[in-house]
Amino acid sequence: MNLEQAKKKLADYNQKHLLQYYEELSETEKQALLTQIEETDFSVLSYIHKKTEEKKEVRIAPIKALTLTEIQSKKGELKDIGTDAIRKGKLGAVLLAGGMGTRLGSDAPKGMYDIGITKPVYIFERLIENLFDVVHEADTFIHLFVMTSEKNHEATTSFFAEKNYFGYDKNYIHFFKQAMAPASDYKEQIFLEEKGKLATSPNGNGGFLTSMKKAGLLDFIHEKGIEWLNVFAVDNVLQRIADPVFLGATIDAGCNVGAKVVRKNDPDEKVGVMCLKDDHPSIIEYYELTKELRDTLDENGERAYNFGVILNYLFEVKSTENIMDKELPVHVVEKKIPYLDDNGNFIKPEEPNGYKFEELILDLIELMDKCLPFEVEREKEFAPIKNKTGIDSVESARALLEKNGYTL
Ligand code: UTP
Repeated sequence: MNLEQAKKKLADYNQKHLLQYYEELSETEKQALLTQIEETDFSVLSYIHKKTEEKKEVRIAPIKALTLTEIQSKKGELKDIGTDAIRKGKLGAVLLAGGMGTRLGSDAPKGMYDIGITKPVYIFERLIENLFDVVHEADTFIHLFVMTSEKNHEATTSFFAEKNYFGYDKNYIHFFKQAMAPASDYKEQIFLEEKGKLATSPNGNGGFLTSMKKAGLLDFIHEKGIEWLNVFAVDNVLQRIADPVFLGATIDAGCNVGAKVVRKNDPDEKVGVMCLKDDHPSIIEYYELTKELRDTLDENGERAYNFGVILNYLFEVKSTENIMDKELPVHVVEKKIPYLDDNGNFIKPEEPNGYKFEELILDLIELMDKCLPFEVEREKEFAPIKNKTGIDSVESARALLEKNGYTL
């Protein structure tokens, strides 16, 4: 793209300010900026208005979850199904580590965070150890795909190499970068993060399969005969990864997606719960849950919308591929975005100052036919680290890890 074409594109989206330092740049920087302008999808800005638009009416109904008691009653059988699939190489795991972890406030990738007390215990290390439990039991390595972004790829890959992959076979670890989206201020003006660079942020976790495909990993998955992907967040240090019982149950139920869920702590807990929307598996966000839905009971007299998701899913590769070209809605999220001010000073805001644009996994689930919500024990499998202190923090996760017998 040449300068004239860039000016035209920017004028169309009312973003002319992005070339304000153009004349100060070197030839290489100029070219890089023009390329970035060419490649950036500015249409995401239109979602800022859609955010407030009326949503269309959808039919919401409860979805049946496999409860702890039901799982317990046929655990052996389910585990055999899952272990058999794992031994045949049918399961891969996808670690979602492309996020910026702004709430935790560390500059390094979240997985590099040390949650140890008497010794270093890195989040990535904990996750690999969890995966090792199954690797040892099934006596086979499981391919682990790690999603990073342009912002943390180098740091993440170097860290894994430096730590010798925490003992995992490095031939079974594959890093891939997710796509980026521009970030704007509240007046819909995209920020610059350098004089020759637009501020961008990872575009959410919803596009993981598209990013894997772009990295050539979908071909690899086919080659290896991987049929299922266990997709999980970087920040739950207690979760079970590649859980054979979960895999066995999802296969046994004939579902093409499985979701680990926990019973809500209290009916007003701020967590998205599983449901059916127009007969498709979906998640109602806590702010969408009306009093009526909250108080709806099932045939056993229990709350019908009571199972919260913990971002640990099983996706059947074939079915997910079939829907991956469908457009996902773009979520507009308020975040702290570092930027260059009008005087060219780099500012790192303490409070949210603009919008990022993200596609989310929960929208992917809505495109699938059949989902199995699979109940897990909260105290044993859910210790997310979102914040430094308080709820879902390093402190609360440490307490839960210790309760489960881990030495930190
Ligand atoms: P979160 O929304 O909790 O993570 O994503 P975040 O965006 O890193 O955190 P904050 O809101 O800025 O504090 C849940 C999971 O999805 C991954 C995260 O790394 C985390 O594992 N994720 C999120 C991505 O891989 N890419 C993204 O673009 C966003």
